[in-house]
Amino acid sequence: MSLCEILPFARSLIQQVVQPGDLVVDATMGNGHDTLFLANLVGPSGTVLAYDIQFIALQKTKKRLEDAQCLTQVRLFCKGHQTAVDELEQYQQPLSAAMFNLGYLPGGDRSIVTRPETTLLALRGIVRFLKPGGLITVVIYSGHHGGKEEANALLDELSGWNHNQYNIMRYQWLNRPNHPPFLIAIEKR
Ligand SMILES: C[S@@+](CC[C@H](N)C(=O)[O-])C[C@H]1O[C@@H](n2cnc3c(N)ncnc32)[C@H](O)[C@@H]1O
Repeated sequence: MSLCEILPFARSLIQQVVQPGDLVVDATMGNGHDTLFLANLVGPSGTVLAYDIQFIALQKTKKRLEDAQCLTQVRLFCKGHQTAVDELEQYQQPLSAAMFNLGYLPGGDRSIVTRPETTLLALRGIVRFLKPGGLITVVIYSGHHGGKEEANALLDELSGWNHNQYNIMRYQWLNRPNHPPFLIAIEKR
């Protein structure tokens, strides 16, 4: 199949803009797959700031990074991504990319999910630090309780962002059943 699934497509976009030594954000570390992916892209001279509100996510991610010998370039925060600006303000370097993978922790407590208010706050805050050509990917699930509302809130807001400042695209399966995830990619012009 030449069409790409949502997560690999998000990664392929991120891979195009992130270089060794860069500063990047994993806004929803979860089981740490994206954190490790970003840690490998930025290498030992770069920095990944990774966030999750669940301590179990932090533990799983830390173990994954330790096993891959990639922990040194990652800072793990057990707090909401809406506070990432507190860390970003401390860096002189502009941000190359941020990844959001919304919803609940796979294999974890399905009642703990990302919320539209905090996701939007995080996006509005993080995008201020993005360099021209930098990219934010947001993988959105709408099948769980509250997922549809979050998806709609994001689509409402992002479709209104200034097209002179941002290129924003949506990548989505049209004919798959059961609320397939979709991707929104935001590029700073
Ligand atoms: C779909 S999972 C992320 C999967 C992850 N990217 C991976 O590679 O395994 C979504 C995660 O977002 C976390 N989350 C929920 N609200 C959050 C918030 N305000 N800030 C940061 N993380 C949050 C959840 O705890 C959950 O672990």
